[in-house]
Amino acid sequence: MEFNHVSVLLHETVDSVLTDPNGIYVDCTLGGAGHAHALGERLTPEGMIVGLDQDEDALAVARERLSNLPCKVLTIPTNFANLKEALQSHGIHEVDGFIFDLGVSSYQLDTPERGFSYMNDGPLDMRMDKDAPLTAEIVVNEYSYEDLVRIIKDYGEERWAKRIVDFIVDARNTQRIITTGELVSIIKKAIPAKARQDGPHPAKRTFQAIRIEVNRELAILHDSFVDAVELLKPNGRIGVITFHSLEDRITKQTFKELSTACVCPPNLPVCVCNNKAVIKAKNKAIEPSEREIEINPRSRSAKLRVGIKL
Ligand SMILES: C[S@@+](CC[C@H](N)C(=O)[O-])C[C@H]1O[C@@H](n2cnc3c(N)ncnc32)[C@H](O)[C@@H]1O
Repeated sequence: MEFNHVSVLLHETVDSVLTDPNGIYVDCTLGGAGHAHALGERLTPEGMIVGLDQDEDALAVARERLSNLPCKVLTIPTNFANLKEALQSHGIHEVDGFIFDLGVSSYQLDTPERGFSYMNDGPLDMRMDKDAPLTAEIVVNEYSYEDLVRIIKDYGEERWAKRIVDFIVDARNTQRIITTGELVSIIKKAIPAKARQDGPHPAKRTFQAIRIEVNRELAILHDSFVDAVELLKPNGRIGVITFHSLEDRITKQTFKELSTACVCPPNLPVCVCNNKAVIKAKNKAIEPSEREIEINPRSRSAKLRVGIKL
């Protein structure tokens, strides 16, 4: 299987994050190394690209792709939730720029054995980190009715969540659900034909929800961004690319929190919180051009938010 992934908002991200060609840049979601390579090409031999990914398959491909860069390269197999300890354990205490390109890569989606895809049959897996204990099969077969409804509603923003879970519970009472194909046909049965006529694939939202739960994708974002900002040098940049409203909301809120000076209630005559703004961030996100969306439809929902360390 070839590692195919078209990087989203490539030049916008590199231009936003790069400040010093001799600097240290950390790509927290290395994937196929598209962003890291484009950034690394603009660094000097003194500069450095550090790439993190929790998927060993991605890291193996990325190492190869980064081998011809003019700068230093370090790859670390880890979840970016551990970025602070991971960088510090390699003696890195100050960083010029961070990139987070959230979610899964096209390679992960297009590899049926990884179980992310509702288009191809495969095991119900969905783990980015193949050593992690929680799989989609466990979520689908062992979570309570209430938890499944909450996950599919909250993480999938799926209006048919209850009906889908009714059908899942019915099916799993007879036999354990073990493939993506089985789950897709259960979802198709649950969503009324009329509602399935237009819009995205009927399983898209449920698969997104289960993937977020399996990889704990949202829970780690706030603290990871705070840790990254703490390591940034003054004028260093953090660039975050999101693909759905849940990720974007957390990114926007975290940037707002980090760029707000005083958080005291407005009726207090003097500031008692002593909070300080640590970044400057624009309220408006950078979005792909019509042309990029035409060439790469996956970029349609992408948003890039950039924070500048004060
Ligand atoms: C959208 S892809 C990145 C593509 C990359 N920017 C490129 O241009 O090729 C996201 C990658 O980040 C990884 N990833 C997602 N969440 C992660 C996390 N919390 N920690 C480490 N890696 C993560 C995934 O395994 C995947 O390989």
